[in-house]
Amino acid sequence: DWTSAAFVETTIADIKATVGNDKVVLALSGGVDSSVAAVLLHKAIGTNLHCIFVDNGLLRKNEYESVLEQYKDFGLNIKGVDAKDKFLGQLAGVEDPETKRKIIGRVFIEVFDEESHLIQDVKWLAQGTIYPDIIESVSVKGPSATIKSHHNVGGLPDFMKLKVVEPLKTLFKDEVRRVGTALGLESFILGRHPFPGPGLGIRIIGEVTPEKVAILQDADKIYIDNLKEAGLYDQVWQAGAIFLPVRSVGVMGDERTYENVIALRAVESLDGMTADWCHLPYPVLAKISNEIINKVKGINRVVYDISSKPPATIEWE
Ligand code: XMP
Repeated sequence: DWTSAAFVETTIADIKATVGNDKVVLALSGGVDSSVAAVLLHKAIGTNLHCIFVDNGLLRKNEYESVLEQYKDFGLNIKGVDAKDKFLGQLAGVEDPETKRKIIGRVFIEVFDEESHLIQDVKWLAQGTIYPDIIESVSVKGPSATIKSHHNVGGLPDFMKLKVVEPLKTLFKDEVRRVGTALGLESFILGRHPFPGPGLGIRIIGEVTPEKVAILQDADKIYIDNLKEAGLYDQVWQAGAIFLPVRSVGVMGDERTYENVIALRAVESLDGMTADWCHLPYPVLAKISNEIINKVKGINRVVYDISSKPPATIEWE
């Protein structure tokens, strides 16, 4: 029967036999799959694995710094690429969700291609593809920013001509987590909620601006920190804050305010295909709402999303 220790052992041997002394490039996202794939490959081929972690400017607050730090602790040969301005520049003035997704996907490909060219003689592209990705390879909402679901139209970027190594492609999510545990990865990475490739870019309804990203990052951090503090984070399948381009009237002291709304979303799900909204305790919601309204400038109202999927989707875009 399947054990994570045996899987790790045979997979490391397989990778060594397949890849030999070649160089491999891998895009890290901060998510469970790419992290487990990276640590596994690193065990097999050491610094011949070149990891690239792109800051698209649409990550959670402090995510880039803290995730990069964790990976470095693992001894990974990793390069962080600050491409915030490139992504946010290309998104300026764009409102349509699918167009935003396409732009984020395209810029990611450009940045990754440029970075992989800087590695001499790279022969392989490693991906954290897992079994469910293969059976549902096309997202209902179109291409994501991950490489695996990208269908390039205008000629392949060079890294897509590389040979592909996908050490997790026979595994289900729970097996990936068990392998991660066997490799010594911490819950900081293994227990994280799913996060979409286009990141906060699809949690800001309509046009994305650096100001809105900053506001959403602050609100989202208060939300997630409170879920963790209340011991609810692990019971929730996915949670996040959404910036609504709607302004409503409020009062602050004797001043009238006219500011934006933050929506909070938390769902229970097994695979993201169907989902129920979480019945979070009122005292926790009250604390989150107060903290967001008091601390995040530009927000004077917080609402909680009580829609299940279907017919509502998990993301608002
Ligand atoms: P929906 O909103 O369709 O989301 O109910 C289901 C799951 O998919 C994630 N999601 C995405 N992931 N690129 C991604 O990598 C995308 O464009 C994308 N859109 C949605 C969503 O976060 C949820 O986990």
